[in-house]
Amino acid sequence: MKVAVIGCGTIANAAHIPSYMNNPEAEIKYFCDIIPERAEAAVQKYGCGTAVTDYHDVLKDPEVEAISVCTPNNVHALIAMDALRAGKNVLCEKPAARTYAEALEMQKVQHETGKVLNIGVVNRFNSSVNLIKKYIDSGKLGDVYHVYVSFRAHRSIPGLGGAFTTKAIAGGGALIDWGVHYLDIVMYCCGDPKVKTVSGEVFSKLGVNMEEYAYTDMWAGPPKYDGTYDVDDSVTGLIRTEGPTITLHGAWAQNIGVPEQYIDFMGDKAGIRLMYGKDFTVYTAENGALVEYKPVFQMDEMFQKEIDAFIDCIKTGKKLPSHIDTVIITAEMMQAIYDSAESHKEIALA
Ligand SMILES: NC(=O)c1ccc[n+]([C@@H]2O[C@H](COP(=O)([O-])OP(=O)(O)OC[C@H]3O[C@@H](n4cnc5c(N)ncnc54)[C@H](O)[C@@H]3O)[C@@H](O)[C@H]2O)c1
Repeated sequence: MKVAVIGCGTIANAAHIPSYMNNPEAEIKYFCDIIPERAEAAVQKYGCGTAVTDYHDVLKDPEVEAISVCTPNNVHALIAMDALRAGKNVLCEKPAARTYAEALEMQKVQHETGKVLNIGVVNRFNSSVNLIKKYIDSGKLGDVYHVYVSFRAHRSIPGLGGAFTTKAIAGGGALIDWGVHYLDIVMYCCGDPKVKTVSGEVFSKLGVNMEEYAYTDMWAGPPKYDGTYDVDDSVTGLIRTEGPTITLHGAWAQNIGVPEQYIDFMGDKAGIRLMYGKDFTVYTAENGALVEYKPVFQMDEMFQKEIDAFIDCIKTGKKLPSHIDTVIITAEMMQAIYDSAESHKEIALA
């Protein structure tokens, strides 16, 4: 299957391209980036494909069946919709788009064209996450009444002043960039419960005085002091669903030097703490004694599984759990948190 990768930056090189290279069914025909050196570097590095700078050239080629959109968030919707309309199947990186309205447009075009549109909610292919889903589905936790989400870093704003901190490009900050993964994991593990109400506040505090911002880490850096910083560096929210109530606390940057990246699933029979991207611990009581254990299992490479499943679903027509129809709710919840923060009121979802 001929594939094109659009956007040859960090995630393309770290995950999408190597995973396509490992898939015996896939052949990368185009590397596309508006920075020509990045597309050319990929051709050199991986020893295949043609470098292009305009994604429309890729869409004109009838041989290309599958596209990975690995660009910044501001062009996810545009490129994904153009690709779908050109008859291509699309795996678009997370978040689906900058806003819920954009994500809805993408979903509409998917429905019109009938082509695949999956979103890069890669944790749906993570071994820990899938095992926790099985624990919950099989009733091991009992009634899961509360899920507590914490994704808090000390001072770790990515690329201060660049694409990640510019709302017009990214759509938001810590919530849309990190929170999207955490909310998606909760929804997936808890059976995608219907969301009733959303309340949230977002804060843009530590990064605003760019020159004065001291940091522990700056991935996607270095800082651009003449750039823009108008996104949330911290967020809190309360989401009521027909399943558990979700509380979330997230920060790219906070004045607390104890980073936390976990999700606590609280059930009346057992609870689970998932360390994000890692393993998990089960806490319960047995025969009057408190018990805790860490399941031992094979941790598969989630990006490889995501890409393999994408290629497979194009051939088989199987609908994946990362399909836009399933994950659009995350875009709606994040939008509601931003809207609630702006109005300082709770938002009821229809
Ligand atoms: N799934 C994950 O865990 C994960 C991790 C990192 C990033 N991401 C997502 O991947 C996307 C890209 O992030 P990144 O860190 O790789 O960014 P990046 O800046 O390293 O790479 C993006 C590339 O897209 C190119 N680009 C921009 N506009 C383009 C266009 N119109 N046509 C072709 N190329 C274009 C840029 O020149 C750049 O090389 C973002 O949406 C981000 O949220 C997901």
